[in-house]
This record gives sequence, structure tokens and C-alpha cells, in this order.
Amino acid sequence: MKQKLVVLTGAGISAESGLKTFRDSDGLWEGYDINDVATPEAWERNPALVQEFYNMRRKQVLEAEPNAAHYALAKLEEKYDVTIVTQNIDDLHERAGSTNVVHLHGIITRSQSSKNPRLTYPIKGWELRMGELCRLGSQLRPHVVWFGEMVPMIEPAAKICSQAEVFILVGSSLAVYPASGLINYVPGNVPRYIVDPKIPAVYGVPDLIKIEEKATIGLPVLVDELMK
Ligand code: APR
Repeated sequence: MKQKLVVLTGAGISAESGLKTFRDSDGLWEGYDINDVATPEAWERNPALVQEFYNMRRKQVLEAEPNAAHYALAKLEEKYDVTIVTQNIDDLHERAGSTNVVHLHGIITRSQSSKNPRLTYPIKGWELRMGELCRLGSQLRPHVVWFGEMVPMIEPAAKICSQAEVFILVGSSLAVYPASGLINYVPGNVPRYIVDPKIPAVYGVPDLIKIEEKATIGLPVLVDELMK
């Protein structure tokens, strides 16, 4: 039986692949106010703009490559039963070889029915166009969780965290609820590591092992340690 190792990742792990984090960019996301592009209200007001914004993000993701941190996490599967819970909408963990990835906030390479969020499809290429419909006849939107929407994967993710035997947090400011609460589900006797060049404030979790480094530097070293 392999030990259960759970990793919670955020935008910081993909920063060195060229995908900008949200909170390191003055509260703007690639120059956009999130209220204009990442809320259900934005979609109601101007679906074409939202679609265009995510088409650009998808293009960027498809052109990006996994980095040493993504690959280090994939390597852990040789010794551990690894689950990655990611807040990221990119597919870089999968492309680095991780086989068990839970996407809390959806994934940009899939589309979603605007009538039924459970109806999702793969997107061919980088562009999702207005006029492309789901089988119920409603417009397809990006399969991402917007601000103000429910996070359907939060309950399975909380259960996964509650069963962790080793826990690693990488590259998240823990500023966004409910993902920020997941670390509190990890049992108290479990080794808990944080890898981030700017360690976020974590409340109510003692004995955190803090590795104040960029993901591509800190994670390969930590993974080497854990593989011994
Ligand atoms: N390596 C590791 N961590 C890094 C690096 C790096 N090279 N560069 C930056 N970071 C850290 C920052 O110090 C910060 O703690 O990554 C974190 C990025 O924080 P956020 O931008 O807030 O990203 P995240 O926590 O994933 O945001 C959560 O908010 O934008 C929404 O829905 C979106 O999933 C996202 C959610």
C-alpha cells in the first residue's frame, strides 16, 4: 500500500511556465478586471468579450509547457498514491504526467453548457466560438468556475485532504474561498509542507514546514527528499 500524498496547487506553480498569477499582477488578470471577464454577470452582459478573453487564455495555456515543478510532482507517483487538487485551469499537471488531478475551478481545455454545468466537452484547438451549442441547444462557455459560482468539486477535495498522509501546498495565496479552507481538513499528525517564494498566512495550522522558494527550485529538492 502506497502512502497517500495530497498536493494543493495554485497559480504560482505555473508562473514559471509563463502563465501569470492573479494576485502578483495588481489585482488585474492579464490587464482585465475580473468583474468584466470572470463572473456570471460578465457573461450575461457581454458573452463575446468573456469568450474572447478565455480564448486568449487557452491559446496561452496551449503554448505553455510544464516546468520542473510539474514534473517533480508527477515523479512522486513512483512511490506515493498522489492526488493533485489544483485551483489552476491549465492542463500542465496532466501534460507533465500526473494521472490523478482534481480541477477545483474547472479546466480551460473543455467547454460547458450554459444550461447544465455538468455537460462538458473537449475543445478542439484554442477557440470556442459564439454559436457553438451544447446538445440542449444552449451556448457553450468555458468550463471554469467563475467568481460567485458554486465549486462542485469542493466536497470530494475536502475528503481527499482529510485522508492525506503527506500534504504539500504550492503556489497559492490561499486568498480564495472555499479552496483556502482545504488545508484545515488535513489531519494534524501529517507532515505539511508549503513551497512559495512568499509564504501565505495560514491560520490554525501549526507545524507547517515552510520552503520559501520558487516552485521550480523548492519542489524538486523536496521531492528528492520524499523519494528517499
Ligand atoms: N513558485 C511558487 N509560487 C509562486 C511563484 C513561483 N515561481 N510565483 C508566485 N508564487 C506564489 C505567490 O507568492 C502567491 O502566494 O503563488 C501565489 C499566487 O497566488 P494567486 O495569484 O492568488 O493564485 P491562487 O492562490 O491560485 O488563486 C486562487 O483565484 O484568481 C483566482 O480562480 C482563480 O484559481 C484562482 C484562485
